Amino acid sequence: MTTPRLNLVVLISGSGSNLQAIIEAIGAQKLHANIKAVISNRPKVKGLARAQSAGIPAITLDHKNFESRDAFDQQLIHEIDQHQPDLIILAGFMRILTDDFVAHYHGRMLNIHPSLLPAFKGLNTHQRAIDAKVKQHGVTVHYVSNELDGGPLVLQAMIDVNENDTAETLQQRVHQQEHIIYPMAIQWVAQQRIEMIEQHVYLDKQPLEQPVKWINNQLITP
Ligand code: GRF
Repeated sequence: MTTPRLNLVVLISGSGSNLQAIIEAIGAQKLHANIKAVISNRPKVKGLARAQSAGIPAITLDHKNFESRDAFDQQLIHEIDQHQPDLIILAGFMRILTDDFVAHYHGRMLNIHPSLLPAFKGLNTHQRAIDAKVKQHGVTVHYVSNELDGGPLVLQAMIDVNENDTAETLQQRVHQQEHIIYPMAIQWVAQQRIEMIEQHVYLDKQPLEQPVKWINNQLITP
């Protein structure tokens, strides 16, 4: 059975290494998707150059040019919807979203956050994990709800925290995991294996009470 291609719009604010991983997964035919556009709220970031190199429309919508958060989000909706995406991918998009924006893409927007949610929402997650002396850390792909870094969890990669880890070494190892699990989760959407209905995630039509785990290169389904 051939999987229909999923149309994506990817939102970024910076380096775009997750964007790059998604581009490469599509190239390797591990992800049946098309990126219709990449939109950055910050001008001249590396992620825009990555999009251009891959022949993807790279659009800057600078939030500083808007009077309010709402005006920016309305224009962003307008821009995104011109590309008729099936799914919106937040890949290092450093903006707090308005409720209207989130509602508009209900069940059609994924984010990746560098912690084992619900632990360490917000910023500086790697340093906070070290300070809290947790034994395990990682990264989470989740659907977006109007709670910051909230929303139903889909997939988490877990790694051990070593005694000599710093925020930098943890970040590096977590980033490697991000690049594996984000394309994987998007492919599940492309295959219609995963969906969000109201505030619940379903995997293969079964409610997913806990996120699927990716540990030592293995998937562990609850
Ligand atoms: C990643 O750590 C991601 O988890 C977080 O923002 C960062 C984006 O990195 N949401 P990049 O721009 O994809 O390299």
